[in-house]
Amino acid sequence: RVVAVIMVGGPTKGTRFRPLSLNVPKPLFPLAGQPMVHHPISACRRIPNLAQIYLIGFYEEREFALYVSSISNELRVPVRYLREEKPRGSAGGLYSFRDYILEDNPSHIFLLNCDVCCSFPLPEMLDAHKIYGGMGTVLVIKVSAESAHQFGELVADPITKELLHYTEKPETFVSELINCGVYVFTPAIFAAIQDVFMQRRGKAELRRVTSFEALQSATKSIPADYVRLDQDILSPLAGKKELYTYETLDFWEQIKTPGMSLKCSALYLHQFRYTSPHLLASGNNTKRAAITGDVYIHPSAKVHPTAKIGPNVSISANARIGAGARLISCIILDDVEILENAVVIHAIVGWKSSVGKWSRVQGGGDYNAKLGVTILGESVAVEDEVVVINSIVLPNKTLNGSVQEEIIL
Ligand code: GDD
Repeated sequence: RVVAVIMVGGPTKGTRFRPLSLNVPKPLFPLAGQPMVHHPISACRRIPNLAQIYLIGFYEEREFALYVSSISNELRVPVRYLREEKPRGSAGGLYSFRDYILEDNPSHIFLLNCDVCCSFPLPEMLDAHKIYGGMGTVLVIKVSAESAHQFGELVADPITKELLHYTEKPETFVSELINCGVYVFTPAIFAAIQDVFMQRRGKAELRRVTSFEALQSATKSIPADYVRLDQDILSPLAGKKELYTYETLDFWEQIKTPGMSLKCSALYLHQFRYTSPHLLASGNNTKRAAITGDVYIHPSAKVHPTAKIGPNVSISANARIGAGARLISCIILDDVEILENAVVIHAIVGWKSSVGKWSRVQGGGDYNAKLGVTILGESVAVEDEVVVINSIVLPNKTLNGSVQEEIIL
């Protein structure tokens, strides 16, 4: 049997995701109309003999309760949220719930970061891992040399695929091959994490008996029960025939900012063509709006037949899109109203916001730039004939004049 664990983090993480994470935990922010965490969860369905999916995080339990119960029913696989009372790091969090995870006596445990967007080739990784042997296999991808430093960089044996060297976010370039934040382990991972605890306790004890200068370094060191999978497990175990790599040639992105969520929404919408075509709006119905490219429209949203939608548009529950409106590359959240002839391009329009008649809400489309995507927080009102370009507007603001390249607090 196999168990999957998804690390969802907590409210002190995901700060770069503001203002969107002010309303909803980042893992529940919709990409292609589905909560971010829904994409790795539904990828887990392809794992043979999957017994359980656990979400581990330090958000309040009630924030995930509704989602967890509805997705369990839908997938017919038990999905459970386990709350850490404080952050323990990716490996420390996993270890603290080892009794739950080992309950089903799993032969393998998948561990997935929730803030990555990829095709999650999980069954393929498991097959590769069984051939390699060892304690774990890491999903890896080649990225450009300029962007590699934002991730864990690694070196793998080209023939055996063994992980030979691992450095987390290095200052000087190591390799274009990076850690995707998706792993499969045998239960031996728990012994490896326990070894790190023991070493830490040993060092702390040594410091206690050797006094002053040691005392100084002890104050700087991280807590004994905080264990990071990357620095504390992958780095020391590289080159010991315990860890292997599986390279994906498919898409992969990390979702740390609102701009990247727009890019990842496009990637997931495109993937729906192959995995869930029924979720995509079709442009063949003459009574409906004109649809171009990949578009998701929630069944409760009302879109005027003369509106033009797409490509890369996702429209959430109870949104209303007026006559002649034009939407391109945007995420429209619940209860938004877009009035007649308004234009929204490269933008995210927050819950209960409204965009007035003949108004324009637009970003430049550079998903990596801070103001490359225009973002309206919750309950923002853009009045008629107002132009909002490359700006971020915090919740509850009313805009009655045009703005450009501004952060409106
Ligand atoms: N439950 C829980 N508890 N989750 C956590 C904790 C914790 O204490 N700390 C981090 N996470 C979750 C985050 O929500 C995220 O999904 C994942 O674990 C990794 O977060 P970070 O530890 O902040 O690392 P990162 O995202 O900057 O980088 C990691 O992922 C990259 C791939 O996206 C590293 O492993 C990199 O090497 C890797 O390239």
